[in-house]
Amino acid sequence: MLVTIFLLLVALCANRGCGEDSEAVQRPGHVSVIVVGATGDLARKYLWQGFFQLYVQQVGSGHTFTFYGGGLSPAETATPVLFEILKAVSCSKDVSQERCAVLKEQFLRVSQYRQLKTVEDYQDLAKHIEQQLRKEGMTEEGRLFYLSVPAFAYTDIAEKINGTCRPAGGIWLRVVLEKPFGHNYRSAQVLATELRSFLNEDEMYRIDHYLGKQVVSKILPFRTENRKALDPIWNRHHIERIEIVLKETLDCKGRIAFYDEYGVIRDVLQNHLTEVMTLLTMKLPANVSDSGEVLRNRLQVLNSMLPLGKNQAVTGQYQAYKTEVQQELNKTKDHVSVTPTFAAVLAHIDEARYEGVPILLISGKMLDERVGYARILFKNNVFCIQNHHSVHCKPKQIVFYFGHGSLQHAAVLVSKNLFKPALKDHRWKEVTEHTDVSVLGLHISDYYVQTPIKEKEAYSELISHILAGQKNSFISTENLLASWGLWTPLLMGLTGSFPRIYPGGADNGDMLDVHLRGKEIHYNSEAVIIGVDQIGGASANGFQVMRGKFRSADMVSAWTEELVERLAVDMEEAAEAAVNEGSVFHLALSGGSTPLALFHRLALHHFSFPWWNTHVWMVDERCVPPTEPESNFYNLHEHLLQHVRIPYYNVHPMPVQLNQRLCVEEDGGALLYEGELRKLINGSSFHFVLLGVGYDGHTASLFPGGKPSELGESLVTLTESPVKPHQRMSLTFSAINRARRVALLVMGKGKHELITQLSRVKDDSNKYPVTGVKPASGSLVWYIDYDALLG
Ligand SMILES: *[C@@H]1O[C@H](CO)[C@@H](O)[C@H](O)[C@H]1NC(C)=O
Ligand SMILES: *[C@@H]1O[C@H](CO)[C@@H](O)[C@H](O)[C@H]1NC(C)=O
Ligand SMILES: *[C@@H]1O[C@H](CO)[C@@H](O)[C@H](O)[C@H]1NC(C)=O
Ligand SMILES: *[C@@H]1O[C@H](CO)[C@@H](O)[C@H](O)[C@H]1NC(C)=O
Repeated sequence: MLVTIFLLLVALCANRGCGEDSEAVQRPGHVSVIVVGATGDLARKYLWQGFFQLYVQQVGSGHTFTFYGGGLSPAETATPVLFEILKAVSCSKDVSQERCAVLKEQFLRVSQYRQLKTVEDYQDLAKHIEQQLRKEGMTEEGRLFYLSVPAFAYTDIAEKINGTCRPAGGIWLRVVLEKPFGHNYRSAQVLATELRSFLNEDEMYRIDHYLGKQVVSKILPFRTENRKALDPIWNRHHIERIEIVLKETLDCKGRIAFYDEYGVIRDVLQNHLTEVMTLLTMKLPANVSDSGEVLRNRLQVLNSMLPLGKNQAVTGQYQAYKTEVQQELNKTKDHVSVTPTFAAVLAHIDEARYEGVPILLISGKMLDERVGYARILFKNNVFCIQNHHSVHCKPKQIVFYFGHGSLQHAAVLVSKNLFKPALKDHRWKEVTEHTDVSVLGLHISDYYVQTPIKEKEAYSELISHILAGQKNSFISTENLLASWGLWTPLLMGLTGSFPRIYPGGADNGDMLDVHLRGKEIHYNSEAVIIGVDQIGGASANGFQVMRGKFRSADMVSAWTEELVERLAVDMEEAAEAAVNEGSVFHLALSGGSTPLALFHRLALHHFSFPWWNTHVWMVDERCVPPTEPESNFYNLHEHLLQHVRIPYYNVHPMPVQLNQRLCVEEDGGALLYEGELRKLINGSSFHFVLLGVGYDGHTASLFPGGKPSELGESLVTLTESPVKPHQRMSLTFSAINRARRVALLVMGKGKHELITQLSRVKDDSNKYPVTGVKPASGSLVWYIDYDALLG
């Protein structure tokens, strides 16, 4: 067979006149392909088919091949298995049946199974390759190892390859690796370092099969070919947002052992969607075929991403996942997994060109349809008064459609209100005859549609790039680490947070809809409970906001974010009610770190809060100058006041600094504040007082042992704290308990112990000052997050 191809080559050369000048280029020679893990799932489904395509394409090119399927099993048992797989490969439609039979026959003849377990096995392989080359009188061109094995085996195999199979003298060695490349930044770095001692960077081909998809590999050429039309609009002034979406209908059954360790972010977002994002946003290389430049520009995008934290993601888990985990991992009924099977992430690029452009990366299992696409939605500020069907009022968008979904095939779609894209690649065609479908809000006839003339499998494409030594569709070590550098902080931020449970399929309805607020992404609807046992053995009964009683007052509980949101909403409602009633809202806020999340929320999300009519008072203050970061007022100003439109004469810091000294009794600061308060507030009755609780049960600056109940009618007092700074100014219970509404905000695991104690103790404001909070005619509501409530 090898001889046949060789003769064919001689014949071709004679015809085409391959002469002296082609001598200079490296002459195609013999390539040994070794698939390690030859009978595994991936190899069975895609790799052998890909190598067969390669073999067929290369007939007549001068390349000759031997294919070795390697694995841990002995040859006796694995050989028949391998040959069953090889017999199942298929030819593309344009090859006749007879020709196909011949090609398959030849492919089988140059393929064999070898056990590859020990160093000796690899030594034998190397010997075999050399003997064969000698016997057939062939020049060796290279050795291609495809490691289709679990990642933990990479280093060991790489070491064996380097030790025994590295060819000498200018003959190339290429080793292909499949994801996962690590689990986070650290593990990816460890793996990269280990591999680096056995393989050079240019020898490693980390595959992301997404980069081999025809439409994905079209992104850069498309951007280049249409540069004239795109340059003026490919920026923040014109792009509304970018969406990169991969929706699946399947579950994780059968893959749980792997999946539960990884989840959707590691499985899909960190690699496939990130790669698509870089292709869409990278600086166009001067030369698209220049791998070095392409890789550098992709890296540059990764390095200029704004950090991702947990406010830039929402996660979900389909309902049946829990049971699948229990079954496949032999866990008991109360085992809970927090691995997300759905995630929507909002990313931003910190470059002038893309500043403020939202980039959404979304993927999930058990969704309503199987589809993958990247869409660039442009701003459209045309407003049609009468003719809404007119094309210029419709969405302006470019869609790179990876496949499946309503369209069922790969395509690049440009809405007709943008421009007519160039068609310079002879492997693509324009389609004008359409079936009656809509894609992302536009009827297909409203798009210019281009599709590949011949559909090709991603793996076949990438395998031919490996043979050609084209590295731009692979992941370099630097790019890999940069991507993990982006995703690892988010993954860490999400540890311990519960994904929203969704039923799966069409039943998901609008549960997974998200909305964007500034740089944050949130679920659009409040969570609903869809099963009583969603969070396993813990005693909370769902993800939603839970209402109950605590110390015989009302309690609202939820996960931190929902809790803060609820409190902010309640506060805004109180403000509106007060302003409607008397044109003014008197709000007293406490310091410390607990309310900061609330302040951010108010500043960033509550634009209709009636700040103009609000007076902000202090619950307590530390006796430090107001310019110190320890000052409560300083923090209040930093995190809230400077971001909202509140008149400065409505802001009432506590006068802790008078006569150039801090909190001296005879300077009368407390009396001064009390006077101001009595003068401005009807009945000295705040509309809303926000309090926190310290670990020792103190609230405001009323500390255990300070006999806060003995302050009589005075509204403001100086107190002593057990921790620095010792001196404080504080509202008294008299002032607090006159309020119409008091909110007690308690958050974090650290407060769990205290909450447990408080749920048991009797009122004793000297020992647990917070138990002295008892509004005389107003209401008290405890806002306790699940961490504090459940520990
Ligand atoms: C491969 O093995 C040789 C020893 O045979 C060693 O010197 C070399 O550093 C190893 N790694 C690479 C990348 O060549
Ligand atoms: C583009 O890069 C490829 C690969 O490095 C090279 O062969 C080709 O000559 C370059 N083209 C131009 C115009 O520089
Ligand atoms: C679960 O248990 C079954 C039967 O006891 C066993 O065959 C299987 O290997 C176990 N799986 C795991 C992940 O422990
Ligand atoms: C002050 O409060 C009292 C009692 O709550 C109320 O009757 C009165 O109308 C209020 N005055 C103003 C000016 O709001």
